Parts: sequence; structure tokens; C-alpha cells
Amino acid sequence: MAVTRFGVSLESELLEALDNYVVENNFPNRSRAIRQLIERNLVERKWQCNHTVAGAVTLLYDHHRRELGNRIVDIQHDYFKEILAVQHFHLSHETCMEIIAVRGQACRLTELADKLIGLKGIKHGKLAMTQSDEITG
Ligand code: NI
Repeated sequence: MAVTRFGVSLESELLEALDNYVVENNFPNRSRAIRQLIERNLVERKWQCNHTVAGAVTLLYDHHRRELGNRIVDIQHDYFKEILAVQHFHLSHETCMEIIAVRGQACRLTELADKLIGLKGIKHGKLAMTQSDEITG
């Protein structure tokens, strides 16, 4: 299969993490590691797409960006059927952590998480899902 080269910009910490990942998993180079990460991520999403899952979205953000808090709430209202509960923790003067418990179709949850994590100003975001087809949403 034809291979296309492209440039990737990464923060130095992320690059360091990638290099550690390459070493730990005995990849011959960064390209192989990136390829595997992409494949695994995409396959996982596809596999889970139609399943009903439960999970949590974790967000870390700057408390002083007030408009960000409003955007987070607006998005949550668009997914009120999927959201079970929201817990907000004031980690420090600056940092807020929000854990959003969710349940529903994996595609919907991924879409919700992508919208939240993609907001400008989010320091860190992650969606964790666990398969639970026996749960009907
Ligand atoms: Ni807070």
C-alpha cells in the first residue's frame, strides 16, 4: 500500500511520551507506533459504535476561563439523555476537574466527549467507556 509522509507538530512532553512508547513496545520507529495508535483507536471506536456503553468523561480546565464553563454546560444540555451525573471538583485556585458519568450509544458518547475535549482551554480530557449492552438507555 502506498505510504504518505506528513509532518506532525507535538509538544515536547508529548514527543517524549511517544518516544518512551516506542522503546517500551519495541517499535522500530515513531511511524510504526503512531500507525498502531491510530489503528487501535479507530478500530475500537468502530467496534463500540452501536453498543450501549457506560462511562465517564474527565475534563481538566482553568477555572478563570468563565466562558468555558458555560460552553461545557451548553454541550451537556444537548446530551441530557446520555448524562447521568456531573461532579465538579475544585482541584486548586486555578484548576477545575469535572467528571461526567454517561450512558448510551457509544457513538453518541464519543461525539459528546469529542465536543467537550475539543473546546479551547481544556487542559486535559479523556473518555473512558465500558461495554454494557445489558443496560438499556
Ligand atoms: Ni471549580
